[in-house]
Amino acid sequence: MKIFFIWFTILLAGCISSIPIVSEIDISKAQVQWNGVTLEQLRSDRELYIVKCSGCHSLYKPDQYSDAEWNSILPTMNIKSKLSSVESEQIKRYLSLYSMK
Ligand code: HEC
Repeated sequence: MKIFFIWFTILLAGCISSIPIVSEIDISKAQVQWNGVTLEQLRSDRELYIVKCSGCHSLYKPDQYSDAEWNSILPTMNIKSKLSSVESEQIKRYLSLYSMK
């Protein structure tokens, strides 16, 4: 049982660590597009993505899709996750920061 728990924790950590953490380096890039956005805001965008989008399937990496592809996928997924319009903008902002472009 204990072994199983350790194995499960490692597996879970592995999945989430492939979802990029927002760092100081990304801030200047982000501020070109979202004037005045802070590191804290972008980190909470990421948290929201992890919490809201991992319920039904494993998390997709932001760079698996281009902005245009995310824009066509997100409206359906926003409904599935029952996001508010503010939450959907946050998740879109996070994904766009690391998307394929
Ligand atoms: C209620 C369950 C549910 C939730 C919550 C959910 N999804 Fe999905 N997602 C699905 C299902 C089912 C599919 C595959 C079938 C489809 O495309 O509808 C899917 C497919 C996807 C795909 C692949 C689409 C493609 O065209 O290959 C992406 C990317 C995705 N989801 C992203 C997200 C994101 C981002 C969120 C959070 C905003 C999210 N999902 C939340 C159920 C969900």
